[in-house]
Amino acid sequence: MTGEVERLNVLLKNFENIGQKNIFRFWDELDEQKRSLFLDQLEQLEMDKLEKFQKLIKEKASQYEFGTLVPFDVIPLPQKKIEHQRYKNAIGIGEKLLRNGQVAILLVAGGQGSRLGFDGPKGTFPVGPVTGRTLFQCHVEKVIALEKRYGHIIPFYIMTSETNHRQTLDFFQEKKYFGKKPESFLFFNQGVNPALDKNHKLLLAQKWQISVAPDGHGGLLQAVLKNKIIQDMKQKGVEYIFYFQVDNPLCHICDPAFLGYHVIHQSEMSAKTVKKRDSEEKLGNIGTIDGKVVTIEYSELSPDEKTATREDGRLVFEQGSIAIHVFSRSFWERLFASGFELPYHVAEKSIPFIDENGKRVIPKDKNGYKFEQFIFDAFSYANKVMVLETKREKDFSPIKNKNGLDSPETARRDLSNLYASWLVKAGYNIPRKNSGDVAIHIEISPLYADNMNVLMNKQPKNLKINHNILIE
Ligand code: UD1
Repeated sequence: MTGEVERLNVLLKNFENIGQKNIFRFWDELDEQKRSLFLDQLEQLEMDKLEKFQKLIKEKASQYEFGTLVPFDVIPLPQKKIEHQRYKNAIGIGEKLLRNGQVAILLVAGGQGSRLGFDGPKGTFPVGPVTGRTLFQCHVEKVIALEKRYGHIIPFYIMTSETNHRQTLDFFQEKKYFGKKPESFLFFNQGVNPALDKNHKLLLAQKWQISVAPDGHGGLLQAVLKNKIIQDMKQKGVEYIFYFQVDNPLCHICDPAFLGYHVIHQSEMSAKTVKKRDSEEKLGNIGTIDGKVVTIEYSELSPDEKTATREDGRLVFEQGSIAIHVFSRSFWERLFASGFELPYHVAEKSIPFIDENGKRVIPKDKNGYKFEQFIFDAFSYANKVMVLETKREKDFSPIKNKNGLDSPETARRDLSNLYASWLVKAGYNIPRKNSGDVAIHIEISPLYADNMNVLMNKQPKNLKINHNILIE
């Protein structure tokens, strides 16, 4: 009890000093357990971060001002013979890394998926065009196929957040890790940052809890450090980290060409891009400002920059980042040794809170700010960066929205189109709509074939081309 009073007094003083004493307004109403939870949470809060965030909001107007952005030189899709040879060479190098067990996979799955409006971890969203295979199952089965091909268990690191950590673990347990060795997974939780209201004050999510939100996918680096993941990687002989986002069922996981180019270019951090659908596609733009490599979000590009064209009519910023990266482990080690910190981005959001009368309010409008770090800001710390163009139809169809572009419907369509292209090569006729998209639903388990060559070798016989084709 005395311990509690002492702890409370210290915190009261600290928070009073920064004008945030109001968060204790319901203290007298709280029972023992809630008081203890509240004190624990407040003690973990980094006070210097709070001041940093308040300063950031004040500077918000000017924070995104930047110099002249020049698009980064991307390695284009191979066209000429020599480019095809280089591509093949890169595949050879990437495959060697996989055979040697030097590659690990890192999946960021801590986001809240609010645009999709799906209640639960996004990885549990059903995407298989026929069976409703979940995103997690799609990803894991592809990795199992790689393990069989290259004869190595691939370490799979999955970053979750406070909002979905338990549910994610339970899901994998219930599904028996989709047949991949449980001990080859490492689930770890990203950190949180406090939210602030328009008057730069902390908000209460409960009478005994301040409002916090996941610290962004850039929080990955702090979480890697905290969870001693580098040590785990070293012990397993991992030199390269293949990074991707949970929302993209088409991702070519551990693409050997991408890994190979990363090595050939002695890159520390690499990225994949696709040609944008149009100037408005909501993708990050990789470029340089005064020689520093940066990613500028679509929302930060000026209308002129978005639509600027070259002499041949192509957009100046014609390539968009699909948030697939390779990192060298040594790059992360160098970053950690230097005590670096990624910048914070401020986002105005609608944040539920407990009002002065103790009532929970769900605001219609944006009433406060959340603070996130973005992993792509690590580019500017890398000595060398490589960016590789890829084909959208083989690598990218994210699920972001409920309907329309980048939705479950478009992802299922793109999966069916991809599998159809394999079946056509294997000699089947697939019915198509006027748009060119397949007119039926097709699903091929990565455990059966994870690419066209594997399917061709297996030559599936006597397939009935019905409304649904499922090959497992
Ligand atoms: C992101 C990129 C954008 C890129 C696009 C490609 C940002 C700001 N923008 O957009 O440049 O072109 O993907 O699809 O990232 N996540 C966490 N923890 C968090 C927040 C997010 O793990 O705190 C994970 C999510 O689970 C998801 C990924 O990061 O896997 C992307 O997050 P999201 O907020 O959906 O990014 P986008 O705005 O779609």
